[in-house]
Amino acid sequence: MNLSVVHTVWELRQALKTIWRSELLLGFVPTMGALHEGHAALIRQANRECGFTAVSIFVNPIQFDRAEDYELYARTLPEDLELCRSCGAQLVFAPATEEMYPAASLTHVQVSGVTDYLCGQHRGPHFRGVATVVAKLLHLIQPARAYFGEKDAQQVAVVRRMVADLNFPVEIIGVPTVREADGLALSSRNRRLSPSERRDAPALYQALLAARAAIEHGSGPAEARRDALAVLASTPSIRVEYLEVVDDESQTPVSRIDGPVRISAAVWLGSTRLIDNTTATPPRLSRSEGGAPGQRL
Ligand code: PAJ
Repeated sequence: MNLSVVHTVWELRQALKTIWRSELLLGFVPTMGALHEGHAALIRQANRECGFTAVSIFVNPIQFDRAEDYELYARTLPEDLELCRSCGAQLVFAPATEEMYPAASLTHVQVSGVTDYLCGQHRGPHFRGVATVVAKLLHLIQPARAYFGEKDAQQVAVVRRMVADLNFPVEIIGVPTVREADGLALSSRNRRLSPSERRDAPALYQALLAARAAIEHGSGPAEARRDALAVLASTPSIRVEYLEVVDDESQTPVSRIDGPVRISAAVWLGSTRLIDNTTATPPRLSRSEGGAPGQRL
């Protein structure tokens, strides 16, 4: 099927009218463009699981906490459309800022609790901007399923909570993080790294793996955190913004580990901010997998 590209809400509704009325499962992948293999994994999965896949490409101004980050954000629409086409998307919605925000918005979606720590604590109104634009896009596209990368685990938790609390009729699917061979999570911001920063960047994932190994050997969150910070300390070009062991659903730090947890971090390399995360399961739980039927993990 061909790829249709629309830029206005009116065109979007025209393009989706027959899909909404059909039996086809509508899959949706929201993005800010500058697409890479991480985005491609989301689009391919949507395409495998759904009869029709729509992608949005919109650099959402209200989720940026720094004007410079918004201005520097890569805009590569022709290449993005090629990637969408090659991954099997059928529709791209690429609105102008004025189309999404014709007047200064007086209404925002604020998800509390889940946004108290990590990026929520350090990036001001970031998640308010994310929840608001995702709510608008879900209303505009009305998909059965929407796909989000676990690379932004707190974002997934925020969207899941919003969808549950506000009864959005959509299933949120989390997709595993796509990484470079050296472990660095793919990100549109990686292209801003200098060659030496790029060489140092994989230390972020190495640190997360150190924390995961500690937890899998029975360490508590403080010890796991210490191990991870020791890895980062050996890379002086890296400045740590946060590194926490959190409960995945509430995105709040845990004081003890009695189930699967997520280890999340944000670091700076020069003026580029990178985030990453991984999950870890303590040893008792790993052993009980495949244990007695009905056993709770
Ligand atoms: P963006 O950063 O473009 O990411 C779009 C989607 O791709 C997100 O769900 C993100 O988690 C996912 N993604 C990015 N890098 C990935 C990787 N290495 N592996 C797997 N998935 C990856 O996230 C946003 O845009 C915006 O906040 C948005 C949800 C579009 C709202 O504006």
